[in-house]
Amino acid sequence: MTEIRPILWENGSLKLLDQTQLPKSETVIEVTGYHGAISAIRDMQVRGAPAIGITAAYGVAMAARDIRVDSRADFMTQLRGVAAEIESARPTAVNLQWAVRRMLAVAEAEPDPTRLPQALLAEASRIQEEDETVNRRMGNAGQGLIPEGGSVLTHCNAGALATAAYGTAVGVIRAAWESGKRFDVFNTETRPFLQGARLTAWEFHRLGIPSQLIVDSAAGMLMQQGRIGCVITGADRIAANGDTANKIGTYSLAVLARENGIPFYIAAPVSTIDLSLPDGAGIEIEQRSPDEVTHFQGEPTAPDGVEALNPAFDVTPHRYIEAVVTENGVCRPPYLESLKLAAG
Ligand code: MRU
Repeated sequence: MTEIRPILWENGSLKLLDQTQLPKSETVIEVTGYHGAISAIRDMQVRGAPAIGITAAYGVAMAARDIRVDSRADFMTQLRGVAAEIESARPTAVNLQWAVRRMLAVAEAEPDPTRLPQALLAEASRIQEEDETVNRRMGNAGQGLIPEGGSVLTHCNAGALATAAYGTAVGVIRAAWESGKRFDVFNTETRPFLQGARLTAWEFHRLGIPSQLIVDSAAGMLMQQGRIGCVITGADRIAANGDTANKIGTYSLAVLARENGIPFYIAAPVSTIDLSLPDGAGIEIEQRSPDEVTHFQGEPTAPDGVEALNPAFDVTPHRYIEAVVTENGVCRPPYLESLKLAAG
C-alpha cells in the first residue's frame, strides 16, 4: 500500500488531494498562492487540524515568495498581514495558528531578506515532515490502549488525510493493527460533512483494516450492547486542563462512553495543546454554513427554507477523557500536570 499523503509540494506549488471529492474521485488540486491555500482550508478541500496547519505554512511560504517590496521592514509588515489572514481561515484548530506563528518566527530570525523565501519554504517542509514522524511516534505510544480481541470506535477523520501522513487516532488504531493485534473497528459517518463515511472508511479500506461504518446515532446502542471496547478520536485544540475541542458529536460519544463504562481516549500531537487556555470555555467553535446541514453535495436533504444550525466542533470536558495520547507519551489526569510535561 502506498502511504496516503494528502499534501505535496511539487515544482513550486501545493498539490492537495481534494477531500470534498472523496471517495467519488481522487482529484488533486493545485494551489499556487496563499489565497488559494486559504480557500482550500475554508472549503475543506484540506481539513483536519495538522493538515490545515501544514497547508497554512505553505501558504505563508508562497506569500513570502510572491511579496515584492524593497525593505525587510515592508516585507515583514506584509507577511504579518498575510499571516493574520491565513490564521483566520478556520478558528478552532490551534494547529493553524501554531504553524503560522512558527513560520513568522523563522521570518523574524532571518536577517537576510534575499534568503527569507527559501528559509520559509524549508520551514514549511520541516513542519510537514515532522508531522509524519510525530504521528508514527503517537501510534507507538498509544497502541497498547487498543485491546487484543476487543473493539474500538472512532469519529470524524483523524487519519492520514487529516495530517501529513499516518494520522493521529487512526494512526493509533493502525499501529495496534500493524503490531499483529486483531479487534473490531467501528467508525461513525460524522454528520453533516461525512468525514467518517467518506474519508475514514476510505482509509481503513486502503489500509486493509476491516471496519464497520455506523450512523452517528447508533453509537449509544452499540455501547449498551457491549460491542464497543474503547473510543478514540483526534482533537482540534486541547486546553491546559484537558478540555478538548473536536468534531461535533465527540462530546456525546464521551458522555455515552462514561455512561457505559467504556474508556474514551484522545490522540493528538503536542502542537494541538493550547496551554494559553486554562479550560475549554475559551475555545472558539467554528459555525459553518447551514447549507451543509440542509444539503448534501448540492442536493437538498431538508425542505426549502428550513433554518439550520451548524456548529462544527464541541468541547469534551476533561473529566470524560481517560487519556490523551501524544508523541511524547500517554497523558493521564491530572492533565494540568501531564499535558504541560508532554508539551515540554
Ligand atoms: O472539520 P474537520 O474535518 O477539519 O474536523 C476534523 C476533526 O475534528 C479531527 O478530529 C481533528 O482535526 C483531528 S485530525 C488529526
